[in-house]
Amino acid sequence: MDFGIKGKVALVVASSSGIGKAVAMELAKEGAKLSLCARNEARLLAAAQEISAATGVEILAVPADVTKASDVESLVNKTVARFGQIDILVNNAGGPPTGAFESFNDEEWAKAIELNLLSTVRLTREVLPHMKKTGAGRIINITSMTVKQPLEGFVLSNSVRAGVTGLAKTLSNELAKHNITVNCVLPGWTATDRVLEIQKARAKRENRTEEDIRTEIERSIPIGRMAEPEEFGATVAFLASERASYITGVSLQVDGGFIKGLI
Ligand SMILES: NC(=O)c1ccc[n+]([C@@H]2O[C@H](COP(=O)([O-])OP(=O)(O)OC[C@H]3O[C@@H](n4cnc5c(N)ncnc54)[C@H](OP(=O)(O)O)[C@@H]3O)[C@@H](O)[C@H]2O)c1
Repeated sequence: MDFGIKGKVALVVASSSGIGKAVAMELAKEGAKLSLCARNEARLLAAAQEISAATGVEILAVPADVTKASDVESLVNKTVARFGQIDILVNNAGGPPTGAFESFNDEEWAKAIELNLLSTVRLTREVLPHMKKTGAGRIINITSMTVKQPLEGFVLSNSVRAGVTGLAKTLSNELAKHNITVNCVLPGWTATDRVLEIQKARAKRENRTEEDIRTEIERSIPIGRMAEPEEFGATVAFLASERASYITGVSLQVDGGFIKGLI
């Protein structure tokens, strides 16, 4: 299948490792030009180099922290200055810390909102005028399986991602007339650095081995293993494609069957 995105410009946020990097790689394999960002410049440049060597696409790498409004503005401006347009926006960021409700104060709640909700608001707001100008666009938000099945110990993620989902559904209705689709893709357990950290923290808290925790997680997934980041990336690349032109306002889980509800 030809995804029809060769030469399109994709801004993939928080993309030096894990899910963001895998999404960038899959879009690059389809021939999209990339603008990438993350806070750590060395890791960002290494990721850009790896994707460029593998696919030969043109890549702009901009060190940026998505929790800072000025960084977001400059990221979008630099992307447009380099490529002239933005066709695909993939909103992503790190995840908030895990823990029980009573372990978080107002400051920690505000940080989680800033990281996952406000970053999505600001990036979308900055990119929208450029999509409206070209008369088309794809906005894809990386949220979490916790949107459809809240996880114990993930109160910040469970709560803030629901906000992103409400935002996305609202925008999908508002922006359809501009030929801009807005969707969310929900990672299930995916083998990235973040998951290794979560496993490590839980093993320490519960005085168990990391191996033990991983086996327990894998038993909860019908497919019996975590996703590889590229399996997730391929789904996002499809939603970003011309072929997904009639899909908007959905929250699509890539979870190996983890979520037990009907929709
Ligand atoms: N992996 C899973 O199983 C899973 C499941 C459900 C949901 N999710 C969610 O999916 C998203 C991606 O997860 P992941 O597993 O790929 O995470 P990850 O392995 O921790 O990678 C996070 C990426 O985001 C960048 N980043 C983090 N904070 C940033 C910031 N403030 N500004 C700009 N870049 C930032 C990191 O680079 P720098 O540190 O250099 O900035 C890195 O490139 C997270 O929101 C996570 O909670 C993941």
